[in-house]
Amino acid sequence: MLQASEETLLSVDSGKQHPSPFVKWAGGKASLLPDLLRHVPSHLSNYYEPFLGGGALFFAICARNTDFNAHLSDINNELMNTYGVVKSKPDELIQLLSKFEHEYYRSKRMSNYFYEKRAWRPSNSIESAARLIFLNKTCYNGLYRVNSRGEFNVPFGRYKKPRILNAENIRAVSRALRDTNAELCSADYRTSLSICGKDDFVYLDPPYQPQSKTSSFTDYTPGGFSERDQHELAQEFEKLVDRGCTVLLSNSETPLTSRLYKGFEVRSVTVNRPINSVGSGRTGYRELVVLGNPE
Ligand SMILES: C[S@@+](CC[C@H](N)C(=O)[O-])C[C@H]1O[C@@H](n2cnc3c(N)ncnc32)[C@H](O)[C@@H]1O
Repeated sequence: MLQASEETLLSVDSGKQHPSPFVKWAGGKASLLPDLLRHVPSHLSNYYEPFLGGGALFFAICARNTDFNAHLSDINNELMNTYGVVKSKPDELIQLLSKFEHEYYRSKRMSNYFYEKRAWRPSNSIESAARLIFLNKTCYNGLYRVNSRGEFNVPFGRYKKPRILNAENIRAVSRALRDTNAELCSADYRTSLSICGKDDFVYLDPPYQPQSKTSSFTDYTPGGFSERDQHELAQEFEKLVDRGCTVLLSNSETPLTSRLYKGFEVRSVTVNRPINSVGSGRTGYRELVVLGNPE
């Protein structure tokens, strides 16, 4: 397999801004990227990422080249709507986000403006996308958490001067999504992967198997991601390899995840996790990177 290096990322056309995640997402992969990228072949045909979140690996691959077809999905409906709007209506989104940013910085109490937007129910996809990005940039730690009714309930973040709109990046992301003919869909990972076959490349970054009860960040959706889900995902991993896909997976290193992927090429990597429930949990976290290559 061809090796990707960090330099590859820097050697592409410097005239254009490289796309990068436009939302901060729990489990974002920034510090693990070099370890993941070295397993991604330089020549891809179909790339599948069904636990998309902020899409850190997808954007890092796009900085190398966009000569492949992307199939991107996540169970989070609001998030996938936002990707759709970034892809097809970047200018309208930028205009509305710019208005939100302006109003936010002119408001007497920024926290009031935040809670107004949190309570607001948008009436179209562009409003919904702008609301998601605005809340993501101004809420506590950029978390996405919903209550049992599916309502976003993360409190105000108290950042001094958050950057709400990065228009250049939204345009770069929009270009990357269009250049890779990105198919965007809100679905359970099993549905998204049902059509994968020989020579497809799949990256799986599921909600973490918690290392302890307090370090759990599996509440991306009302249902969370249980231990049973981790077992089923490992079975899906094996089936994909049997079908001829190359599969890359990252997860926290726990006794369960080490056991589930024992038969595959597994590396244990130390990373700084960007979002954790306790400040002290931000350094020296161990993750597993698992590679499944078809015979
Ligand atoms: C660890 S995060 C992915 C982070 C991402 N790699 C990044 O760079 O930001 C896991 C994602 O899986 C999604 N998810 C949870 N359960 C899912 C399911 N059953 N099917 C598809 N996506 C799911 C969550 O909404 C969340 O965005």
